[in-house]
Amino acid sequence: MKHNWKFKKGEMNDAYRIDFDDSDFRIVSVPHDYAIEGPFSPDNDKQGEKVEADGIHDKITHVGRTGALPITDWAWYRKEFFVDKDAKNVFLEFDGIMCNSTIYVNETEVGGRIYGYSSFSVDITSACKFGENNLLAISVRPEGNASRWYPGAGVYRNVRLVQKGSEYFPYLPLFIRPAVKGDCAEVAFDINVATNEQEYMLDVAIYDQEGKLVASQKYTSTKAKFSGELELENYHLWEILNSYLYTFEAKLYIKGKEADIAITKFGIRTIDYGPDKGLYINNKYTKLNGVCMHHDLGALGAVVNISAINRQIEKLIDIGVNAIRFSHNPPSPEYLDACDRYGIVTIDEAFDEWKIQKVSNGYGKHFNQEGEKDIRTMVKRDRNHPSIIMWSIGNEILEQRLIYGWKYAKFLSDICHEEDPTRPTTAGFNNTEGAFTNGLAAEVDIVGANYKPHQYVRFHNTYPDAVLYGSETSSCLSSRGHYYLPKRYPSIAEPMEDLQMCSYDMEGPAWAYYPEREIYVQKKNDYLLGEFVWTGFDYLGEPTPYRLEWPSRSSYFGIYDLAGLKKDRAYSYMSAWTDKEFIHILPHWNWNEGDVVDIHCYTHAKEAELFVNGVSYGIKHKDENDELLSNRLIWKYIKFVPGEITVVAQDKTKMSATIKTAGEPAQIKITPERTEIKADGEDLIYFVLEILDKDGVLCPKANNRVDLTVDGGEYVAADAGDATSLRMFTEPYCEAFSGKLVAIAKSSAAGTLTLKATAPELGEATAKIQVK
Ligand code: GAL
Repeated sequence: MKHNWKFKKGEMNDAYRIDFDDSDFRIVSVPHDYAIEGPFSPDNDKQGEKVEADGIHDKITHVGRTGALPITDWAWYRKEFFVDKDAKNVFLEFDGIMCNSTIYVNETEVGGRIYGYSSFSVDITSACKFGENNLLAISVRPEGNASRWYPGAGVYRNVRLVQKGSEYFPYLPLFIRPAVKGDCAEVAFDINVATNEQEYMLDVAIYDQEGKLVASQKYTSTKAKFSGELELENYHLWEILNSYLYTFEAKLYIKGKEADIAITKFGIRTIDYGPDKGLYINNKYTKLNGVCMHHDLGALGAVVNISAINRQIEKLIDIGVNAIRFSHNPPSPEYLDACDRYGIVTIDEAFDEWKIQKVSNGYGKHFNQEGEKDIRTMVKRDRNHPSIIMWSIGNEILEQRLIYGWKYAKFLSDICHEEDPTRPTTAGFNNTEGAFTNGLAAEVDIVGANYKPHQYVRFHNTYPDAVLYGSETSSCLSSRGHYYLPKRYPSIAEPMEDLQMCSYDMEGPAWAYYPEREIYVQKKNDYLLGEFVWTGFDYLGEPTPYRLEWPSRSSYFGIYDLAGLKKDRAYSYMSAWTDKEFIHILPHWNWNEGDVVDIHCYTHAKEAELFVNGVSYGIKHKDENDELLSNRLIWKYIKFVPGEITVVAQDKTKMSATIKTAGEPAQIKITPERTEIKADGEDLIYFVLEILDKDGVLCPKANNRVDLTVDGGEYVAADAGDATSLRMFTEPYCEAFSGKLVAIAKSSAAGTLTLKATAPELGEATAKIQVK
């Protein structure tokens, strides 16, 4: 159900009718996010709220909170689809529709879902015409003041038509529960079967990653829920960054005839944890070097795209990330599949609100009616993913402050345990003390603390049974490659005139702190399970600290910018979380004569020496007893003179890095991130474009407009990670930000794909890749 959907925004009460005139609808493909088409405007979902989660206790007008994109338009999708004449039971499966959807088949209302992040299945059997074309119509009606970030809009995840016979496996039929027992693994499973108590035969098989059959068993039963167990000798463990996935396949036979098949991947891994011992995965002590991630994919908006997801994960792995917390809602199934494949552990989170709302049309309005259904669906849909190690029942839920808040926590935590007795529950508590004293913390198995590095020790001593980790950490703000002089080290970020943030990685909102603070505390305390930095990538919406100021429409929180380019901070985590040997120097070296600049350096090395135009400014050492200096080197008050700065480090090997003063922008350099993509019209190639001077030095302030054309494929979008840009991502040009930008393309035909970039003052550059 990907292509040939008809789409239109507008107030149309009867667009579900068969005779409705849809001749002015556009043809689109699904997944589809209509809000990302823009335009940006401060009036889009302008929120007049006090949002206590932001430390805002009075009503203010907040522009750009949800990305300044038109997320609140009512819209309709219409699609014809054919149902086989022999089908007996027919379903539509949706991985998520944003939001408040109503679904009609042949004018009959068959279902819908309020929560845009929930997957669901709709039984359309009684509304269907068999052996004929049918009309699916979907109304999507998001409200304003309903989100704290960009939610996207429309049928932004995948849809499947599922046609079954009289006996079949219903939606999400399988729960695989592998357990290590001595030298072998026992793979217990539950499977739901819809056969009206007729006798059936189940043929169950497990295949290893190479596709070899490693276990099988046949069973006969009449039960609607069947449970069994298979044993695996010589099993492979699913490990962090060393994934191993088995395939579980169940075939249903009625009177000897195959009636249905259910397949899922699973992995074998153990988790163990304790308040003093920390976390063990497969009996190995593990520190979670995690990031929080919202669901949008930058320039693509909220649509699901596997190659964009893979790219995010690969970039995170590059800096040592081994864990992702999906904040604050269940991700797409494709994101979890990718984490399973790469060997990244995850936290699947249900809600940002329970009953008490953070925004006036927030999910809390629906919690009583929908909450149980939504959290059950999350666990049922996702419990076969080996990557998931905890279910989070919520983020910074305001019930932390209520003495009966624990009742909600217990209710939700119990549901998770009921649907999955194998995994612990958690929540991200910002009012951690409130959660402890009001009993919420006792209702989850593992206590997530948001922004509390200086209180872990006290929590650990006061609540010795609590298993602790940093569910949200740092919230440092920066614009890639952007700095202000005189140097700025305010711990609380103040709005700047150009609506950017300084990239010295020192500032954030009131609750935030520089990365090293958490890194330091985590390293010192083995009982802490680790941290989840807010956030891995910049995301659309929440342009803190800019709330009243315009234009600003995406976050500054990311370790990577919205385009997926590394900010300086990426190297701080790289030095803390990997064994890589590198030197990264900041800021750039293009200042005015006489400016006084602080030079910071992230490196694996314990000490390094700075040279300016060959003159030494001394050796700096990391200081194990100082939070900030335990993971970065700082040379203060260096007078700028044009030329170059070099940092030399002598660790296992001697290495150096240099930044030069750049001249005028003179040329474009294009680097494709991959050499080859698939000719499936979905695989994406990301090209990184850099503006260089005539000698090939990056121009760190270049903001030239570059025109982009693609040959042998389709241009998709471009972005430079500038949170203040109001250009739509799909425009065939883009202004560089801090000397760089990223262009995205794809192709449905094999051959050579060429990106051409031109700017009158820079000339032309091209890059080619293969499409296969
Ligand atoms: C947290 C919240 C996140 C995000 C973050 C920004 O309090 O849970 O969703 O708003 O602050 O620092």
